[in-house]
Amino acid sequence: MRKENRHRVPTRNRMGWASRHLNPVSEEFVRFCGDRLTLPVLDIGAGLGTATLAALAAGVRVIANDLDPTHLAAIDWAAPEHDRHRLKLLEGAFPRLDIAEHGLAAAHASSVLHFLKGKQIEEGFRKLARWIVPGGRIFIQAATPHQQPFAPFLEEYQRRVAAGQKWPGWIIKLSEYCHHRQVGQMPRSIHLLDEAVLTRAAEEAGLAVERVWLYRRDDLPKSIQLDGREAVGLIARVPLM
Ligand SMILES: C[S@@+](CC[C@H](N)C(=O)[O-])C[C@H]1O[C@@H](n2cnc3c(N)ncnc32)[C@H](O)[C@@H]1O
Repeated sequence: MRKENRHRVPTRNRMGWASRHLNPVSEEFVRFCGDRLTLPVLDIGAGLGTATLAALAAGVRVIANDLDPTHLAAIDWAAPEHDRHRLKLLEGAFPRLDIAEHGLAAAHASSVLHFLKGKQIEEGFRKLARWIVPGGRIFIQAATPHQQPFAPFLEEYQRRVAAGQKWPGWIIKLSEYCHHRQVGQMPRSIHLLDEAVLTRAAEEAGLAVERVWLYRRDDLPKSIQLDGREAVGLIARVPLM
């Protein structure tokens, strides 16, 4: 049986764990949602809805997206009755979503982009730059190579960075490097990200990076902690035209 704890829950489609805590990037997203937005916000890979529900509580309209319809059903169930009219569920694989140009005030993706290939990340940032109204924001959190289970990959990652590879954190077969007892809760391939890679991809899409930084999330289990740089956060703005 898959283990549950009070900080995070295994996703039902083996795409890592959904957190019950708002991480520093999600907190910034929720703060932005309290800013009397007239357009909806998009929560990409919403998981079990921690950020979606907090954004709803902040008063904004939220489009909760996920690959897994059972995750979306759980969010729908958890949404308070008085907020539910502002919640829209959108099943599908980012970036292949149907969103109107300038139809969003902001987008949030917590622990999702590390499941995408480089080309999908590029396409994702390009689409976000179109979907979000000028002046709107993008809030990203992703896993870095600086996690204990990925320590055997660090030397290879550093070699790739030194060689100038475009996507140094892409691991085709995670089990070749990662021997953590819960590796089966992750997909076969993973894309560990860092500040340089995310900044480049965002800027190439025309986004203005406001903040990019490395940190440790409060809910990270001890067996995953390495050196305080386990997560990367990025906040970017769609420039005014
Ligand atoms: C590790 S969980 C994170 C959930 C939540 N955002 C959080 O921070 O707790 C990743 C979630 O992203 C979803 N996901 C993965 N790839 C996706 C994609 N391309 N489009 C939409 N959702 C995706 C998974 O189904 C899963 O629910």
